[in-house]
Order: sequence, then C-alpha cells, then structure tokens
Amino acid sequence: MLSTKEQERRIGQLLRSMTLAEKIGQLWQLTGCKASYKKLIRKGQLGSLLNLTGSRDAHAGRIANEFQRVAVEESRLGIPLILGRDVIHGFRTILPIPLAQASSFDPSVAEEGAAVAAREARAHGIHWTFAPMVDISRDPRWGRVAEGCGEDPVLTSRMGAAMVRGFQGGRPDKPDRVGACVKHYVGYGAAEGGRDYNTTWIPEGLLRDVYLPPFHACVKAGAVTVMSAFNNLNGVPTSGNEWTLRQILKEEWGFDGFVVSDWASIQELIPHGYCADKREAALAGLRAGVDMEMLTDCYRENAESLLRSGKLKMAWIDEAVSRVLRIKMRLGLFENPYTDEGRAAEVTLSDENRAVARRAALEGCVLLKNDGLLPLAGKIRKLAVIGPLADAPVDQMGCWVMDGQEQDTVTPLAALRKVPGLDIRYAPGLASARENGTRLFGRARKVARAADAVVIFLGEEAVMSGEAHSRAFLGLPGAQQQLLREIAAAGRPLVVVVMAGRPLELGPLLEHAGALLWAWHPGTMGGPAIADLLTGKASPSGRLPMSFPSTVGQIPVYYNKMNTGRPQETLRPVGLPIGTPLDPSDFTTSYIDAEQRPLFPFGFGLTYTTFQYSGLKVTCGRDVVVRCCIRNTGRRAGTEVVQLYVRDVAASRTRPIRELKDFQRVTLKPGASAEVEFRLVRDQLAFHGVGGRRVVEPGLFKVWVGPHAEQGQEGQFTLR
Ligand code: GLC
Repeated sequence: MLSTKEQERRIGQLLRSMTLAEKIGQLWQLTGCKASYKKLIRKGQLGSLLNLTGSRDAHAGRIANEFQRVAVEESRLGIPLILGRDVIHGFRTILPIPLAQASSFDPSVAEEGAAVAAREARAHGIHWTFAPMVDISRDPRWGRVAEGCGEDPVLTSRMGAAMVRGFQGGRPDKPDRVGACVKHYVGYGAAEGGRDYNTTWIPEGLLRDVYLPPFHACVKAGAVTVMSAFNNLNGVPTSGNEWTLRQILKEEWGFDGFVVSDWASIQELIPHGYCADKREAALAGLRAGVDMEMLTDCYRENAESLLRSGKLKMAWIDEAVSRVLRIKMRLGLFENPYTDEGRAAEVTLSDENRAVARRAALEGCVLLKNDGLLPLAGKIRKLAVIGPLADAPVDQMGCWVMDGQEQDTVTPLAALRKVPGLDIRYAPGLASARENGTRLFGRARKVARAADAVVIFLGEEAVMSGEAHSRAFLGLPGAQQQLLREIAAAGRPLVVVVMAGRPLELGPLLEHAGALLWAWHPGTMGGPAIADLLTGKASPSGRLPMSFPSTVGQIPVYYNKMNTGRPQETLRPVGLPIGTPLDPSDFTTSYIDAEQRPLFPFGFGLTYTTFQYSGLKVTCGRDVVVRCCIRNTGRRAGTEVVQLYVRDVAASRTRPIRELKDFQRVTLKPGASAEVEFRLVRDQLAFHGVGGRRVVEPGLFKVWVGPHAEQGQEGQFTLR
C-alpha cells in the first residue's frame, strides 16, 4: 500500500496529466453491465459503475475484471474503475435488516455482519458498498426505517461506526474488505409525514445534536465515502447544499474521501425548484461538494462550458477528482485492480457466515410480552405453526436484498420441524401476508385446535418497507388481524412472532398474544434463531431502537422529546367521559382520545429472567462516574442491556427529558449480580446552543440507569 505522501504525490502527477474530459470522467458513475460503457471507459470518460456484478453472475469476478482491464490497460492513463453496489445487510448471506441489528444494542453484531458482507462482495468484484445508512428517523411510516438504526443518535453512531469498521477493516485495500459509503447525508429520515423523498425542516441545533452525529461517527471511523441525499433541507436540497457538504463535512470534520450523489439526485435539483436546468444543477452540485454524479450526466454535459463561463472553478473539479483518485488508491485499486476469480465460492455462504447471520438474528429479536408461555421447552409436544410468514424465504430477508437467494433461507417452519420432540403441524391461514381472503381459515383453525400450543407468524412482506414504500397506516396488512382472532378463538396458548420492517400498530394483537416476539426481517438464518428463542435454547436480549406508537395518530413519538411547559405528569384514563365540562381540568400535553405515551418505549425488551437495579452512585469530578448494581433475580441466565440516560434540567436551549449516553450488555447467571460503571466525559454533555455553538453548560443534570427510556434508578449531579 502506497504511503499517504506517495499517494498524494501520484494524485498531483495524475491531475497534471489529465485532460478535462478525463477529469470529468472520474466524476461520473453509470449503472449496470453494458458493453457500450467500454468505449467511454477506454476514453477515460467513465470512472465508476454500480451494479456491474452480483451474486447471480456465475462469473462476477471475471465480468468485473473484463471492464477493469479496459480501464487499466486500454485507457491513456490506466486509472482503475471503482465498482459499487448496495450491500446493505449482507451480500449472499443476508443479515437481519439494520433496524434489527440495532435492536441487539451490540456493535460487534454489526461489525461482524459487515465483515461477512465485505468478504462475499469483494470476491464478486465489488469494491464499494452504499452502506451504512445512518439516517435518524422518528417516524415508522417511513419505509426506510428498516435500513437505519432507529431514533437515537448514540445507538446509531455506535452501530454505524461498527459497520464501517466491518466493511473496511482499517485496510479497505484488502481482498476481503470494501469501501463504505455513509448515507444519506443529511436529515433524509425527517421526511414530513414519513413520506419518502419528502421535505425536511430541521433547525441547526437539532441537525447538529441528532441528525449529524452518526455521520460524524462514521467519518471518524474512517468511512471512505459519503452519499448526498434526496431531501430538501430547509429549502436547500442536500445534494446541492454547500453548508452541510463543504462547510460541515469537508471543512469542519476534515473528511478527505469523496461524496457521491444519490440516484439522479443532482438532476433532481431541477424538480426541487432549486435549479432551472442541468447546467445550473451541475454548478450547484460541484460548488456544494458532490464529487461524483450517480447516473445522470449534468457534470459531463456542462462542466466545460461552465468553466469557460467562469462560473465553475477548476479548483472544484480538481478537488473532486483528487478525492476520487485518493479513495481508489486507498481501496488498493491502482496496485491490485483485479478480483481473484477463484475466491467467490469459498467465501460465500460459508458456515462461518451463516453463524454470524444466526447470531445477529438471535440478538436482534425483541421479546415484547411473555406471560410465562415462553420458552416452550418441554411444555408442549404438538405445536401448530400458522401464518404465511412462517415459511416465506424471500420476505424473511427483508428489503434491499439484491443478492440474497431464497433457496438459502432457513425459515422458522423449517427450523421448528427439526426441533427434537416437537410435532409440528403447519397451516398458512392466508395465501400471503397481504391476502384478504379467508378461505384458508378453517384448516388453520382445525390445526390450531388439535395442538397443545400455537405459534402464529404475522407482519409485513419485505416489499412493504424500504425505499419509496412508506405507509400511512401501520396495522397488520390483509386479513391477518382476523386470522389472529380466529386462531385465538381456538383457545390454545398463543405465541405471536412478528416479521416486519418497522414498528407496527399492534391494536388488539397484544391482548390475544400470550407472548410476542418481534423478529423484524431476520435474514437468511432467521428461522433457526427464532426456533432457538421459542424453545429456550437461547434467550432473547434485543431492545427497541425505535418507540412503538400505540396508534399511528401519535406519530412522531420518540423518547428524547422536550418536556414542554405542560407535561402530563400523571397518566389519566383515555377518553372524555360524557358530561365532561367544557373546561376539563387536565390542561396538559395529551390527546383526549389516545395515550400520549408510546405502547413500548425506546430501549424496551424482555428476557426469560428478571433483573433488579440498585445502589445507584454518581460522582462528578473531571468526568462523571455512574455506578449501579444489577442482579439476575430470575431462574435463567440472561443478558440485560443496561442503559444510561441523562437530562440537562435547564439550559440555554431546552434539552430532551432523556438522552441515551451509553449502554452495556451484561450477562448474568441466576442470582448473580454485577456492578456496572459508566464514565461520562464532559463533551458527552454538550449540545448546540442557539446560534449553533457547541456548549457544555453548568447546572443540574439528572441521571438514570435502567432497562429502557421510561424506567431506571434515578440520580443527579451538578456540573460546576
Ligand atoms: C437509491 C437509494 C440509495 C442507493 C442508491 C443506489 O435510490 O436512495 O440508498 O444506494 O439509489 O442504488
């Protein structure tokens, strides 16, 4: 690997010898595998492709090498291509969706999963993945919450940085690593109404305290690229936003990689109403600091005339080209441009990769209710398995799966059928999770009645979340609610397992379920993981990375909210009794017809045991040290995700009633206890005051150590 100094020397040398057309070529990315691209590549006028190869190409490495050879051996300067692809949560071995990985509160799960994805992708000729996606979202109607890590900046920062480390491994030039691309910069998850691509309005303080930190964490973890987003941010679209891209990302943070636009997001500056035509769009993108244009050709078509007009500075072009060349060198593409065509088979879908996917699925499932029914071990013999999602190999993988193949998936039905001592009877009850016909109900009811217990799989098909798949309602699709009632009427102990790409509105589901396990879309090995959890071979440890609304009407509902001047201190029954006087007594922030609290709060999740917190101690010196004792008071071993929250009680810009500052997974045997220690440095108490300055203010801080955002041992300290 060339030294940085040597790399920079070579970049300068190349820059001096490149024609303008060759420079613009490095700033252009096209998609797919078209022989026609070779002409552009040979002329040095196309520097990157996405989706050239995938797992379905028997000779992916060979195809990649064929196009790379044109660039390296037939073009004038031999600058290699950089080949990208959306390897979001696994390449061929599909991991749980990122929202499920976040539920593990275990960054090592995300890091190992990304390393598996990198190994498989690089062996198929891919150098660069468009991941991790670290868009904070407080709105489960948005289809892309599935791809992110939820509503909290600390959790998302930790998981995102872990994915960057997993993809790049510190040496992204190695043959089992790929370059990461942190997306979508910035604020895309705040789309109004949860509707994808919609407008976002985010004041600077909120942007800097909530939406930017995960990107900063990923840049500090060494991410080699960043992707600009689709959304309009406060009237300036993010793919033309000089403040966020050039000033914050490149100047304040010192990011030295390159920025790639999202799919056609440069040309979309026109429909945004920010640019009149492609010429203005090209100028806006390059001026803002979007270095490479994905898919559209505004730069290619207009750069030369813009330079002649004096509007476009050559320095912007040279800076963009330097950044692209720098990352191509950092990925080792100049020294080793070709893929070893023999490696794909040995590193793809290996037992080791499957084991990583299985652990991720295990740790990502969240137990939301259990009246003692789980684990099933030993209690029952005849188990009815109901619901189409019990045996849905494609849906189980979730959204953004370009290379996973359904024959690789192990479904819950297949896994449960292998559990010794269980006599499994299956009835789908519905043809699909969106089916409205009830013609299969009768058979399902019969199978349920004949069993000792029932596990019903409900939720969303993979296609109901992901890009451009936002929902206005969050109920169970199709006739699933009716199927649940039908099966509950059979009167057998009932476990509900939900597969979904987002939090859903559970409605009456909760009352019917003896136990409720939230499995998200758990990926290739979701079946064995769910079977292990249901039978007790493993214990659930997942926690919610997003609040669950009790009704879609509550949205946005999130834990790190402001207190308001009229907080509802005491919860009162929902509803306005007949005869209520016109001026009801309770003038607090609430609804007259619904709860104002979420159904399940951020950080919530049950285990098969119980934990007790005691003896909170807070000492405030140079750092703030918080200690608390945790004891396993149940009869089974278990893992507790101990969470540390703080609240800055009074500040120059109001602070949230809770902010997660740290978390630790603690595994204890029955009766065992441990002292958990958190150390807070002052900078972790900082926020962006009015005017965007980052400050730490003296005064009273409250502290909680607990199992989720609404419960915990309370303490306090005063910062001098
Ligand atoms: C899509 C997505 C982005 C993805 C890119 C390339 O529109 O917004 O996440 O990486 O285009 O497929």
